Amino acid sequence: MTTTDLLGGGGPEPAAGTATDPAAVTAGGTDAAPVVRLRGVRRTFDADLAPVRALRGVDLDVAAGDFVAVTGPSGCGKSTLLNVIAGLETVDDGTVDVAGDRISERDADWLARFRRHHVGIVFQFFNLIDGVSALQNIVLPASIGGMRRRAAESRARDLLDLLGLADRADQLPSTLSGGQRQRLAIARALVNSPTLLLADEPTGALDSEGGLEILELFRRLHADGQTIIVITHSADVAAGARRVVPMRDGRIAG
Ligand SMILES: Nc1ncnc2c1ncn2[C@@H]1O[C@H](COP(=O)(O)OP(=O)(O)OP(=O)(O)O)[C@@H](O)[C@H]1O
Ligand SMILES: [Mg+2]
Repeated sequence: MTTTDLLGGGGPEPAAGTATDPAAVTAGGTDAAPVVRLRGVRRTFDADLAPVRALRGVDLDVAAGDFVAVTGPSGCGKSTLLNVIAGLETVDDGTVDVAGDRISERDADWLARFRRHHVGIVFQFFNLIDGVSALQNIVLPASIGGMRRRAAESRARDLLDLLGLADRADQLPSTLSGGQRQRLAIARALVNSPTLLLADEPTGALDSEGGLEILELFRRLHADGQTIIVITHSADVAAGARRVVPMRDGRIAG
């Protein structure tokens, strides 16, 4: 079993452009059309004292199959940027195109379906469901994504195998180590073969060995064609990515 098998072939398809159903949008991204394209993106939050300008005019292109590390000081807008790309956060100004569709013009229902088909997200603190087994943590989002139960379980087992967790299928997340939990979270994020794997400080809660393990996994996924955007404070992770996008004060620096 290779990661390519599990990533649904890995390679990009031409962008659909005019598709209106998120499920119909292809993996997107030829050389001419990046999977992610942001232009002039601004996002301001209301706060007690003064509005916080989290994104102050961001332009960003991410090609299919790229592995991008977003770095920068706390509060510079990294998580806001990732949430905008995931369709979890709206923008005040500018355009956000993902997988051939202008997601910044879509409503919440469309975006929920878009995320199911195109986005896998990994967080610093795993966000696993603790009452159910490792296997079921992967099966659930697959079922919600429309996969039949047996197919979902089979795919979940393949992913557990790929991520070195085959013998942990029946354990509760709380009985796994931090590194194992994060690998499980990545398996869950991959179950619906997302166009984009997004990760917000995925190694932030791990020791350096656990962090390097996750980096190695991302590098394997990247080698098999997965598009990855990872926010990181880790110099190791940034050095392991194909490209670093440094942020400062709500803008891409440099
Ligand atoms: N929902 C919100 N309401 C108000 N302010 C917000 C909200 N989300 C983010 N902010 C503010 O926007 C700015 C950017 O936040 P963001 O979370 O994107 O930073 P970050 O670069 O991810 O920081 P860190 O490295 O600490 O996670 C911060 O000043 C933050 O306080
Ligand atoms: Mg953050």
